[in-house]
Amino acid sequence: MSPDRDVAAELNAEGRFPAGFLWGAATSAYQIEGSPLADGAGVSNWHHFTHQSGNTKDGATGDVACDHYRRYRDDVALMSDLGLQAYRFSVAWSRVLPDGRGSVNQAGVDFYSRLVDELLEHGIQPNVTLFHWDLPAALDDQGGWLHRDIVGWFADYASVMFRALGDRVPLWTTLNEPWVVVDAGYVHGVHAPGRRNAAEAPVASHHLLLAHGAAVDAYRSLGRGKIGLVVNLEPKDAASGSADDAAATNRADAYMNRFYLDPVLLGHYPEEMAALFGEDWPEFPAEDLAAIRRTIDFVGINYYTRAVVRRDDSEVPDRAAPVRQDGARYTEMDWEVHPESLTRVLRWVAERYGSPPIYVTENGAAFPDPPSAPDGTVNDPLRVDYLRTHLEAVRTAIRQGVDVRGYFAWSLLDNFEWAAGYSKRFGLVHVDFETQQRTPKASALVYRDLIRTHGAGLR
Ligand code: FCB
Repeated sequence: MSPDRDVAAELNAEGRFPAGFLWGAATSAYQIEGSPLADGAGVSNWHHFTHQSGNTKDGATGDVACDHYRRYRDDVALMSDLGLQAYRFSVAWSRVLPDGRGSVNQAGVDFYSRLVDELLEHGIQPNVTLFHWDLPAALDDQGGWLHRDIVGWFADYASVMFRALGDRVPLWTTLNEPWVVVDAGYVHGVHAPGRRNAAEAPVASHHLLLAHGAAVDAYRSLGRGKIGLVVNLEPKDAASGSADDAAATNRADAYMNRFYLDPVLLGHYPEEMAALFGEDWPEFPAEDLAAIRRTIDFVGINYYTRAVVRRDDSEVPDRAAPVRQDGARYTEMDWEVHPESLTRVLRWVAERYGSPPIYVTENGAAFPDPPSAPDGTVNDPLRVDYLRTHLEAVRTAIRQGVDVRGYFAWSLLDNFEWAAGYSKRFGLVHVDFETQQRTPKASALVYRDLIRTHGAGLR
């Protein structure tokens, strides 16, 4: 046994995480940057969406958000103070290609290049997501994810970023949560582009997956690091022992949990999809499925909750509705706190998909944080508990043999929470949106200590 391995065994005996486990935090461009049109950037579909009335809580927009575009140096210093080893952020496509394709806006590229340099100077590993929901509006006008040409548009944009940052960024993600893009953006209309047509879901999903595959191909010829896909997963449990609820649970599981991973990792869509979408589910050509099934280097999992479901025929398209659990704790998003299901979902991915390397790319909770105490501290005991119990759940999965390589808390900062605007605070760091002052909450300090001790101090 190599000396390194002895060290790892010793650390594990004290409850620590394996050596090399990456401790990070995550954000996304539209949620924190502000200055959406600065320095030649084009309009994004989220800019467009938030500027139409009725789409977000209190009419909130990302016009200022956390003003990170202008304060990124301070924010990187903050990350460094917290001891973060890695930082997951996304690139706003419309800063780099104002029209989505064609001419590159160098000032947009330069922003991300400076951010990457700043991170590296502080010893923080950058983890770049190419698409975290903000699409250039010019592309949306041409159909967005419904237009098959988006596959090439996305690969071209990805190539611009691989060329610009590939020498310094070791970890890349193509898409963040394609399920949410489709379900919230095309089926229920609560996210940009605000469409409400379940028949569009198969088309938009298929193009997202083809775009993912095309970007992976581009990376293989341009990049030297690792690239993967980030999905949000939510174990589904039946509300009763009835056959109806069991069937609904299976539909909900296929729709949310297998819709994207099955084609990427197994080469086919879940068999339930045809029944879910009926005549709207086309026969996809075998060449397409081959283009989607590209080797990826890791699976990124965003985990927040599980769902207990029952049959509800009014729900589109899976005819399944969540059932609230008496006595359970819920976050402000109305998501049940259920750390055991994080262990479950990590094991499920390992078992179903042949043990791919996994990163937990998002995990966190919104709670109504109390105002800061006179001494300036923000006590968020519920978030501290959420963080600790979910990290314990990750460690349990690792002990059971799941190859989890890192954890990214959602989120570094309180930020623009999409349709919920600024009403939901997920940050480890409190942001006063009037003054832009950042105050690390108790959870940030707990996280800092856990990073420092490699997880010793968890139960
Ligand atoms: C995830 C999103 C992220 C954030 C969290 C709370 O679905 O990826 O941007 O909104 O939820």
